[in-house]
Amino acid sequence: MEISTVGIVGAGLMGSGIAEICARQGLRTLIADSGDEPLKTGRQRIAGSLHRARERGKLSAGEVEQVLEEIHFTTDLDEFAECDICIEAVPEHLPLKTSVFQRLDSIAPERAILATNTSSLPIIEIARVTSRPERVIGTHFFNPPPVMRLLEVVRSIATSPETLHETREFGERLGKRIIVAQDRGGFIVNLLLIPFLTHAVRLYESGFATREDIDEGMRLGCGHPMGPLELLDYIGLDTALFVCDSLYDEYANADYAPPPLLRRMVAAGYLGRKSGRGFYEYERPPAA
Ligand code: 3HC
Repeated sequence: MEISTVGIVGAGLMGSGIAEICARQGLRTLIADSGDEPLKTGRQRIAGSLHRARERGKLSAGEVEQVLEEIHFTTDLDEFAECDICIEAVPEHLPLKTSVFQRLDSIAPERAILATNTSSLPIIEIARVTSRPERVIGTHFFNPPPVMRLLEVVRSIATSPETLHETREFGERLGKRIIVAQDRGGFIVNLLLIPFLTHAVRLYESGFATREDIDEGMRLGCGHPMGPLELLDYIGLDTALFVCDSLYDEYANADYAPPPLLRRMVAAGYLGRKSGRGFYEYERPPAA
């Protein structure tokens, strides 16, 4: 199946980034959210990212305008009736995701792939509320989507080989390298990344080292672009806690248990960059 029209649900950080990369590949791109305000914020975020891409010589001014024109913003999911693939990128709340999938299943054409950008929820639990579990798949993008080169594709036990094949081709068309994970908590990347990040929190919490030394250690000693505490602030402490809880639920392994400090920081509203405070302080939340 030739994919030419993409529908994205959720104009947050990930949804708007995914819309941007689809439109940059010349795909007809629709993005839906529940109200005008989130759509406006999503549009501003996409415009900001496109301008950064222009400043870094990746796009011309004309291309920036063209990409922005490619994206259709809507509050009406019924407009997804012509989509070849729908990608859900709403908050990590299973009942919310399943209600979106029930709607998409009733609107999108029978041929359409229904994909979820979950970072750790079971794909099969989302697939089972649809009439086409074989067409449901996980597409785990990484933040910031226009920059990170990876797309982790997650097949459930019900995903068909055709759906996997078409999703892989779609991801390659977006310029991503594809890895295929099974539908198990954390998939591949978060199963490795989250315990590393939470170990850093435990080191910091125990007073073993300063936040700066922990981060510099991994940046300068191991070539990571960000240290683990900086990266937690970037991902969002609430998101990291959510993934951590999912891993612990799935495996009941103490290595995956969230450190108490992480939970307390989330309870305090210290969510990282987006709230202006996490392991570090930010003067104001940067525009993603
Ligand atoms: N569009 C296209 N390219 C862009 C761009 C844009 N909007 N903005 C920046 N770029 C390009 C730049 O041109 C540059 O490319 P080059 O290497 O070819 O010159 C590259 O991206 C880096 O850009 P900058 O120099 O502006 O930015 P930094 O060097 O400060 O890097 C960063 C910023 C990419 C965020 C880097 O710090 C980084 O990689 N951090 C780690 C991010 C990470 O690990 N993300 C994954 C999080 S885990 C996740 O998402 C999963 C979830 O489930 C938890």
